[in-house]
Amino acid sequence: MSHATASGGRCPIVSLASTKGGVGKTTLAYVLATELARRLEARTNRPFAPADAAWRGRITCIDTDPNRTLSHVLRLTGAPLITSVESDSEQLLADLRAGQARSDLVLIDLEGTANQAMLYAAGKSDLVLVPAQPSRFDVVEAVKTIGVVRKAADLVDREIAHRVVLSRTPVLRQRVAEHSRAQFVRAALPLLPIELVQRAAFQSMTYSGRPPYQQEGGEAAAENVTRLTDAVLAIIGLDLPAADHVAAAPAIAPEHDRRPHLRVVEAIA
Ligand SMILES: Nc1ncnc2c1ncn2[C@@H]1O[C@H](COP(=O)(O)OP(=O)(O)OP(=O)(O)O)[C@@H](O)[C@H]1O
Ligand SMILES: [Mg+2]
Repeated sequence: MSHATASGGRCPIVSLASTKGGVGKTTLAYVLATELARRLEARTNRPFAPADAAWRGRITCIDTDPNRTLSHVLRLTGAPLITSVESDSEQLLADLRAGQARSDLVLIDLEGTANQAMLYAAGKSDLVLVPAQPSRFDVVEAVKTIGVVRKAADLVDREIAHRVVLSRTPVLRQRVAEHSRAQFVRAALPLLPIELVQRAAFQSMTYSGRPPYQQEGGEAAAENVTRLTDAVLAIIGLDLPAADHVAAAPAIAPEHDRRPHLRVVEAIA
């Protein structure tokens, strides 16, 4: 399997796949994209080093889900370093080629079903992430999804790295997560060491278009994203260190977000 690096020049592709809907693919795609864009921004703002010449300074997100959930929330966010592309199985390979030519990483968000787009995406990917919630049903679906990844690997005649990512695990009930981890391990499914915990910040971002690091009180969720992103980058061999938390977090809410707080203050006064 190829391990693309910035200096190697080839832009890695990471797919978010599951044969089941609602497991957290789009959530994961969004937090990865916004965290990576933030890291790219930090890189752009520091003094130029010769090794940076290979960087293109862009993340491309390809949304193959007809519901267009990812492209919608990315539009709300308006991150200048993220290019959002709406695609389908017909267009996917061409969109991937174009995305790779202009980006440091391409993320593909897939529909929650086994289809042609999933096979194409997996066949082109350096890493397939399979979100799964801590439930027996999700173990079964993860086995199915990884079955599709194995078919794609057979087609393209190379190994395709893949990891199950536990998602929506309860913050305070780690025993549930541990039990669930054991089930995935028993089914011979490789797990990412970091899971995406159940947090309000991951839900409110879908309305506000603000990733956790831009949310007041979103620190724990942002820290979760940082660790998860590090784990993903380690697998694909991409060198993009964490951004400086203080410098990169514009915590000022827009006018419409602040108004309800003002009203509360006025009522108390
Ligand atoms: N870690 C989390 N904490 C809180 N809510 C979450 C988390 N992950 C996902 N959700 C919520 O769960 C729901 C499903 O998540 P998401 O849309 O990311 O799944 P999906 O796999 O992309 O679904 P689909 O297959 O329909 O595209 C959403 O309402 C999302 O806000
Ligand atoms: Mg989705």
